[in-house]
Amino acid sequence: MRKIVSLLLSFGMIFALAACSQSAASEKQEQIQSAVQKTEEQEADVSTKTLVVYFSCTGTTKQLAEYAAEILGADLYEIVPEDLYTEADLAYYTNGRADQEQNDSNVRPAISGGVENMNEYNTIILGYPIWHGQAPRIISTFLESYDFSGKTIVPFCTSHSSGIGSSADNLHVLCADSTLWMEGRRFESGTSKEAMEEWLNHTDISN
Ligand SMILES: Cc1cc2nc3c(=O)[nH]c(=O)nc-3n(C[C@H](O)[C@H](O)[C@H](O)COP(=O)(O)O)c2cc1C
Repeated sequence: MRKIVSLLLSFGMIFALAACSQSAASEKQEQIQSAVQKTEEQEADVSTKTLVVYFSCTGTTKQLAEYAAEILGADLYEIVPEDLYTEADLAYYTNGRADQEQNDSNVRPAISGGVENMNEYNTIILGYPIWHGQAPRIISTFLESYDFSGKTIVPFCTSHSSGIGSSADNLHVLCADSTLWMEGRRFESGTSKEAMEEWLNHTDISN
């Protein structure tokens, strides 16, 4: 009889231990699931941020990029060349540095520094001056430096008189297929903040 009782007690303990470890395992599983859910929610939150990126040698594009960042409450990033452009570099039709770079679509001028948290941004407003009908080659360097898959890029440019033309299309092909390119716009020097705001409202950027 004593043997039977001790046998029953042993079985009872084994069942109790098994039940305990099962409930601990399911508790752990729930903890993991909730951590994954939180990370997904956090990622969804931050990926709605907008970054205004610009390159500007004489301040025209810079002013408009600053307006855009103020209007959208967005972060601002300036593309700064490792080798800054001098006045002589920018003198066009002199076969100077800028002319030579624009003559060769494979040139990629180096950028000093970079955007560390690009994954936080969902929308990029990209401003550049027109150089011989195209974006300066340093914009190609920028676009090839990050993965813009699934992100939206809204280009704008400034110029003396040329339109945005094929410049934005030629930049678009440097990005992943899943990058959404919005229609770009050319602005002249001295464009008002109100005009920039009107355009941004028109492009329906959700920030
Ligand atoms: C090398 C070079 C080439 C240029 N080519 C053109 C051009 O093809 N068409 C045009 O309208 N303006 C042209 N410009 C003028 C610039 O697009 C214009 O001044 C622009 O607003 C400058 O922007 P930023 O002040 O932000 O550098 C050129 C300027 C430079 C330096």
